[in-house]
Amino acid sequence: MRKILLTGKNGQIGWELQRTLAPLGEVTAVDRREMDLADPDSMRKVIREVRPDLIVNAAAYTAVDKAESEPDLAMAVNGIAPGIMAEEAKRLNATMIHYSTDYVFDGTKKTPYSEEDSPNPLNVYGKTKLAGERAVQAGGASYLILRTSWVYAARGRNFLLTILKLARERSELKIVDDQVGAPTWSRLLAEVTSQIVAQLFSPRCRTATPMADVSGIYHAVSAGSTSWHGFAAKILEGIPGRTIKKPLRLIPIPTSDYPLPAARPGNSCLSSEKLMRTFGTAFPSWEASLALCLDEITGGSAA
Ligand SMILES: NC(=O)c1ccc[n+]([C@@H]2O[C@H](COP(=O)([O-])OP(=O)(O)OC[C@H]3O[C@@H](n4cnc5c(N)ncnc54)[C@H](OP(=O)(O)O)[C@@H]3O)[C@@H](O)[C@H]2O)c1
Repeated sequence: MRKILLTGKNGQIGWELQRTLAPLGEVTAVDRREMDLADPDSMRKVIREVRPDLIVNAAAYTAVDKAESEPDLAMAVNGIAPGIMAEEAKRLNATMIHYSTDYVFDGTKKTPYSEEDSPNPLNVYGKTKLAGERAVQAGGASYLILRTSWVYAARGRNFLLTILKLARERSELKIVDDQVGAPTWSRLLAEVTSQIVAQLFSPRCRTATPMADVSGIYHAVSAGSTSWHGFAAKILEGIPGRTIKKPLRLIPIPTSDYPLPAARPGNSCLSSEKLMRTFGTAFPSWEASLALCLDEITGGSAA
């Protein structure tokens, strides 16, 4: 059995990874208490004890606005810790899978970003995540960096659950309509990650040293795109009338009408073509994924 160390086990992606990675190896899943990414000694101790063949880092400082006032902590967790994991992975001849974000881009491109496009983060969170990508690359281990976007899940803190809550409390919602991206369900990202891991672990893998061939950055997002307003509209459409007690008016607004501490890219669209080409895995449309997640939340009543 290969040994897999999974960080961030209670996060949106980590939670799902606990299940999807389980058939692929002996998974040691840790939370912040067991391995604090702001504490390099704690990290090294856990990694050296577990001696994993694969580290999957689903932990991160993800509070995008709060990061503006906590840049040092955000940098320690997002920028420095992934590099330490990659160095430890190198010592163990292990592979590392790390998640990054559309927020490494400034959003000025008119078409979906490819892995070749130059990052230019607009906010502290994006800067720390970019630093993390570079630290993983410099660590010397084989690695996959999966950049994703607009992650939601049936649990945790995310846009989907916020809209469902507000829909019960308000009669009107103003939602930003000039930021475009691909809402991505954490479960599908975990499943795609695990399909890739299965390929990497497979004895029938097409080359003797497959990781050397495929190490790199990959975009991993739902197919298609929408605005936050479009996402909210689809969420509300997917819910039968009984969930929302009163009529809800959704009002599209520009980003300038909803100022936040951290600037966001206008275009967050990423092309997942390289992932498809390399591993043969593709995400369904964001609408189809959302329907599946809503179905789960409402216990099969959201079709
Ligand atoms: N959410 C998005 O929209 C989005 C978009 C693009 C990319 N991503 C990337 O996807 C990955 C996973 O995101 P997610 O949405 O699953 O995030 P999440 O739900 O916020 O989970 C992050 C996890 O990291 C843990 N964590 C935070 N600080 C830690 C520390 N110092 N030591 C150990 N663990 C710590 C958190 O633990 P606590 O519960 O104890 O805080 C939490 O379980 C991250 O790399 C993120 O940057 C996310």
